[in-house]
Amino acid sequence: MIDAVKTDPFGEVNAIDVLDLASLEGRAEKVLGRGEFGYISEGSDDGYTMRRNTTAFQDVEMLPRVLQGVEKPDQSTTFMGAKLASPLLTAPIAGNTLAHSSGELGLAKGAKEAGIMMSQSTFASKPIAETAAVSDGAPYMFQLYMPKDWSYCEYLLDEAKNAGALAIILTADSTLGGYREKDVMNHYHLKGRLANLEGYNSGQTGVGAGGLFKESMQKLDLALIDKLASYSGLPIIIKGIQHPDDAVAAINAGAAGIYVSNHGGRQLDGAPGAIEQLPAIAAAVDHRVPIIFDGGVQRGTHVLKALALGADLVGVGRPFSYGLALGGWQGVKAVADHLKMEINIAMQLTGCQTIEDVKRMKIKTRFA
Ligand code: GLV
Repeated sequence: MIDAVKTDPFGEVNAIDVLDLASLEGRAEKVLGRGEFGYISEGSDDGYTMRRNTTAFQDVEMLPRVLQGVEKPDQSTTFMGAKLASPLLTAPIAGNTLAHSSGELGLAKGAKEAGIMMSQSTFASKPIAETAAVSDGAPYMFQLYMPKDWSYCEYLLDEAKNAGALAIILTADSTLGGYREKDVMNHYHLKGRLANLEGYNSGQTGVGAGGLFKESMQKLDLALIDKLASYSGLPIIIKGIQHPDDAVAAINAGAAGIYVSNHGGRQLDGAPGAIEQLPAIAAAVDHRVPIIFDGGVQRGTHVLKALALGADLVGVGRPFSYGLALGGWQGVKAVADHLKMEINIAMQLTGCQTIEDVKRMKIKTRFA
């Protein structure tokens, strides 16, 4: 019996009560180690951009609509052909075993049970194939940090393709890591397995001094998009877009999707809130490719605001890590279910029957 518990790939699970996404952080701090909590919760430098991601939603307003004949709003949608119960994505996060023993397996199961899109990081702590086996046909994307070593890149792309990844998300904003003081104070480096690196080269199992990004290529350019697309045959989505010109250049170079994000405020501090950049980028993209958005999303109303400003899929990062820490896959599902409940209320009160209605909604911003 004890052995069975020990080898359960999903570890200890708990269907947590979620009051709101913001309060998960304080609860997770109590169950996580200081270094792990610091790593997940921090932003770079002064944390301005991380905080602004959420506060910038206050500069977007939606009008309630009445007598619109809305009943039981339908938040299901499709993204790149995949059917989703809600336009939500588990934003790519490194090393999920630092939150919970099940790591990416718990994240994948929680996402699958909630009917939302899952993404897995290059710096995952569970192998691609094992994670995809949990997803088992549920929509899944692989996030790539461009390795210095092209043969390692081929290995990652092959694994992702064999695992049925819908697309590759190339994170373009992390050619080095932002300056993160909590990691310095806590002497913290992402510990434990980097399962994909280990699968490729069994000699290397962790990241030491030099940080998470030391294996990543620093000099990235537009030609890489075609190289990755040609090798993998998969759509390439560019993550970390904050400037409309970069979105246009990426599309012209073959990008099949644009991912608007400032990496949860962990890279360039001083950048605006991610939502502030979305309208201009959506105008520049002009529906040529789908748009993913993340940055500070904590409410169902934030999801509606992002969709109305041009997003097709909305990523949530830290709250899923905290859900995972507190309840394993059931915690992840509880976070998604809570957000879905808030989305349902917001759709009803804005007079939106469908996600397409949300995308057509006219809303006011104080920054565009
Ligand atoms: C990894 O993506 C990180 O921001 O630490």
